[in-house]
Amino acid sequence: MIRLFKKKPNEAVKLPIYTDIHCHIVPGVDDGSPDTATSIELLSRMKEWGLRRIYASPHVADDVFENSPDTLDPALEELQEAVKKTSLDMVIERHAEYRIGELSTRQIEQGIATTLPKDYILIENSFMQEPWDLENFVFNLKLKGLVPILAHPERYRYYNSTGSTGKQRYSELHHKGLLFQTNILSLAGQYGSTDRETAEWLISMGFVDFLGTDLHNHRHADTIEAYLRTNKARKHFDALKGRLLNDTL
Ligand SMILES: [Fe+2]
Repeated sequence: MIRLFKKKPNEAVKLPIYTDIHCHIVPGVDDGSPDTATSIELLSRMKEWGLRRIYASPHVADDVFENSPDTLDPALEELQEAVKKTSLDMVIERHAEYRIGELSTRQIEQGIATTLPKDYILIENSFMQEPWDLENFVFNLKLKGLVPILAHPERYRYYNSTGSTGKQRYSELHHKGLLFQTNILSLAGQYGSTDRETAEWLISMGFVDFLGTDLHNHRHADTIEAYLRTNKARKHFDALKGRLLNDTL
């Protein structure tokens, strides 16, 4: 009898995009998927969410993830070959998530940084403090004809720890032409309520240009799947309608 009154779980909504520009599914190159088999499992879950085109973004960061095309391209090719042997029918390409620092600067200067189509480049701040040369870094990218996208702005706590001043900085950066990519995991509450509220504020201001999963592992996939069954997800996706650039790539 009790079962009759039990609330049926909400049906999962699909993501409002079919192109992901931020995830760590290139196997064995960073803190994301450790091997091809795991990558294939993660991709099959992503397909369920409506994703069809994946631009994976392995970390390129001083000291911790010293990747370059030499390490990333063979790993990507291995994954692409493995995907061909499945019925996934998804396009898998890569660019990278360039943390502002020496290594990224060098690769950009050498012309070996991998960009998205239309010359978009995904950059990441330090989580500790805003890079002292952020504006100069962005300016230099633009001089080269690149269009910088800041990965998960909502996750840099120093931008909202100071209240309205921090929020002011988001406006400044966005108005200067730095595009913003918000994590679906942030909206799902993976990193706590502060980051989620900031992500919601960015949506309300019209500052979210791209969404990305930032998927690293199955635990993240569980979070996204639970989120897709919530009314919050429906509300977020409604608010983003017509704004996202993911599928224009
Ligand atoms: Fe990432």
